Amino acid sequence: MTAPGPLEPRPGAPAHQAGHSNLDPHLDRYASRTAGMTASEIRALFAVASRPEVVSLAGGMPNLAALPLDSLSTQVAELVAEDGLVALQYGSAHGVPVLREQICEVMALEGISAHPDDIVVTVGSQMGLDMVTRLFCDPGDVVIAEGPSYVGALGSFAAYQAQVVHVAMDDDGLVPATLDEAIIRVKSEGRRVKFLYTIPNFHNPAGVTLAVRRRAEILEICARHGVLVVEDNPYGLLGFDGQTYPALRSTDPDNVVYLGSFSKTFASGLRVGWVLAPHAVREKLVLAAESATLCPPTFNQLVVSRYLATHDWKGQIKKFRENYRERRDAILGALEQHLPPGCSWTRPDGGFYVWVTVPEGIDTKAMLPRAVTARVAYASGTGFYADGLGSRQMRLSYCYPTPERIREGVRRLAGVLESEMDLVRTFGSVHPRAVSGPQFPSPDTA
Ligand SMILES: Cc1ncc(COP(=O)(O)O)c(C=O)c1O
Repeated sequence: MTAPGPLEPRPGAPAHQAGHSNLDPHLDRYASRTAGMTASEIRALFAVASRPEVVSLAGGMPNLAALPLDSLSTQVAELVAEDGLVALQYGSAHGVPVLREQICEVMALEGISAHPDDIVVTVGSQMGLDMVTRLFCDPGDVVIAEGPSYVGALGSFAAYQAQVVHVAMDDDGLVPATLDEAIIRVKSEGRRVKFLYTIPNFHNPAGVTLAVRRRAEILEICARHGVLVVEDNPYGLLGFDGQTYPALRSTDPDNVVYLGSFSKTFASGLRVGWVLAPHAVREKLVLAAESATLCPPTFNQLVVSRYLATHDWKGQIKKFRENYRERRDAILGALEQHLPPGCSWTRPDGGFYVWVTVPEGIDTKAMLPRAVTARVAYASGTGFYADGLGSRQMRLSYCYPTPERIREGVRRLAGVLESEMDLVRTFGSVHPRAVSGPQFPSPDTA
């Protein structure tokens, strides 16, 4: 037997090494679970997309311009002066007690009644996703998720080698009958379903909200099949009419793990989120959190806590909502005005995203470099599916650019789509179907 040459994968090496040139000298050292970790193929493109001349409808960055920076800086200075020795010290893995009490008040707005002991503060809800997957998923276990789903969640599931089975959504969110069918099918194949991962409100990337009448049905289906529900709700307070919906957790505290975040309602850079879990799970979460970070940053938690205690945080969320609403109106108006016939899109009542479907024959991933050349960027649909679907979809984020830039971006996008459709009319489908899996997001694409 001859030794493998430098460009051949070594026997027993993780599957992802096959076909790769062996330029990374550590390639045969990585754990096999890294096979699912693929960097976003469009990351390089995003370096170009973030140039000022490009209108980026790709990123999910919150628009922080409305934050009261002057009073925040005073508060931060006071925090250091008055409480610095606590704020700059290690804390508990569980999170700062006063903040956990305040989080209960925040969640009460969506009907949740919780005990602060059942909350674990995390470094953003992304850490919550990582911990929950780590606690529940062995390689090969199945996570059911809406199709499309949040790219960061798909990245966590891939990192723990969980398999994602997507279930359909319509304008009213996840379709309960498809959930029931999917669970029955997966179980009949001898596979274990560990949890349903769902984003009920102002979905990322689909922009739709789960109808209230469907919520009880989904909880009933999961309870009947013994499937845990992981409810991810970073956008729930960003309904454009100030509307809120009853959290799934509010009616089924024993079977729902709830993920919350201050990223979209205060400041994403502080990286403060939380998990509210059934009491028994909470214990394990604290251990998982401890092994990940020892404790979440005390300083950031106390900044959030002071902010909640001293600012009109509900008034601030209202300002954010008005900002996003103006941008949502701009994008929907521009899509209506400019997009060619054959395109369709969702109409969000809150949150950051519109999900667009383009005519047959166009592949949004293949089209992206041409869009960037035309100085507009979007997130192509395949990154939001674990199974290669989404090639006719794209996510447009309206959260960050000004309304004028949004309108200009959509006008440019429409031009690119028109030329693409000309090609399709002339040559048929011009692109091979792209197949890709979950990609790890950069903050700009989350
Ligand atoms: C659905 C969803 N879950 C989780 C996150 C991660 O949020 P955080 O900043 O709290 O980690 C995001 C961020 O965009 C998101 O859209």
